[in-house]
Amino acid sequence: MEQQKVYYFDNNATTRVAPEVVDTMIPFLREYWGNPSSAYAFGAQVHGHVEAAREKVAALIHADPKEVVFTSCGTESNNSAIHSALVTSGKRHVITTRVEHSANISFGAHLEKMGFEVTYLPVESDGSLDLHLLEQAIRPDTAVVSVMYANNETGVIFPIEEVAALCRSKGVLCHTDAVQVPGKLPIDVKQLGVDFLSLSAHKLHAPKGVGMLYVKKRTRYTPYVIGGHQERGRRGGTESVANIVAFGRAAELAMATLHDENTRVRALRDRLENWILTHIPNTVRNGAREPRLPNTCNIAFDFVEAEAVLMLLDQVGICASSGSACTTGSLDPSHVLTAMGVVPMRARGSVRFSLGIYNTAEDVDYLLEHLPRIIQRLRDISPLNPEHPDNDRYDIDAARKKHEEEMASVKE
Ligand SMILES: Cc1ncc(COP(=O)(O)O)c(C=O)c1O
Repeated sequence: MEQQKVYYFDNNATTRVAPEVVDTMIPFLREYWGNPSSAYAFGAQVHGHVEAAREKVAALIHADPKEVVFTSCGTESNNSAIHSALVTSGKRHVITTRVEHSANISFGAHLEKMGFEVTYLPVESDGSLDLHLLEQAIRPDTAVVSVMYANNETGVIFPIEEVAALCRSKGVLCHTDAVQVPGKLPIDVKQLGVDFLSLSAHKLHAPKGVGMLYVKKRTRYTPYVIGGHQERGRRGGTESVANIVAFGRAAELAMATLHDENTRVRALRDRLENWILTHIPNTVRNGAREPRLPNTCNIAFDFVEAEAVLMLLDQVGICASSGSACTTGSLDPSHVLTAMGVVPMRARGSVRFSLGIYNTAEDVDYLLEHLPRIIQRLRDISPLNPEHPDNDRYDIDAARKKHEEEMASVKE
């Protein structure tokens, strides 16, 4: 299958598996395919490589290797942390935020159906979190606070050290979903002071299908996936050895590329964002400028539908994404942007560009060559565009009035 050149600006969705990572994992598919739990040498040697990978992943977050539990993905890690906190504490209340990944939002809805209570904290218009609201929300029956480290749609970073300190002072467990963070910010679990932290390998140039949950030493823990005694009894199921070894190698690379991500990639992101905001009218950034991941920008293009922008970008080989989730025929605006008070029309016209270590200046030039024409082309046919020439075909006055009302209610 010949793959034509892709201009990839969707690194928060998933990342290219690094060639070095592929090289590291192949022997574990071809030759060393034994079960790491087997007693004979053929299995035991595989076990040794799983443990070496555990050390590398632990080093990425400054943890002890014994504090690392391999899982199948970030979603499982999040679910497991919250599940364990509820079971071990016997309490029935969870606090999270309205802007979490669906790994938390949907799990929260599931917990509510099971009779637990979940508080979803609101955020400010720039996507930031008011810690006073968190403090007020903590109750005697709160089992765990789960707040993401960085938002996948806007890149906005939450003050996890403060969140964890608050939880500690109230005797509540603290989990953070740090899936978007490795390779972009240094992670030090000791400094953060969290009890649980989730990662997912496919966000850091390793394959899909493996994740990790950090469980702080002496934190009571009960498994979510129940079965064999793998992972020291903390997660049943035969280890996905090739993926775990790949995760270990990717963790080393993430530490090595941290500087590049924070200098070169950040500069590319800033150039892209500044160019759009200054050269394409009626555009606005969603979310705070700082503190923010160095690779992410989320821009609202007024008077267009993001899905149409993405389709036209796709036609010229550019991958980006919208904050919108496509649900059976209807386009729901992003729950993250909605929680920030972004009006539906603006949220539906929002596009996320997330860069990575493989992006070049030429990629950004290519995007900027095509994007203005695509936006203009869509605005030319948009009934929402105040400069639309074809007043007869649409009820443009009604559309404009509705749009202006929505815009007036934006919390700038
Ligand atoms: C912030 C965040 N949390 C959790 C996940 C889920 O990770 P996984 O795809 O490994 O289940 C993602 C993936 O997009 C994410 O961005």
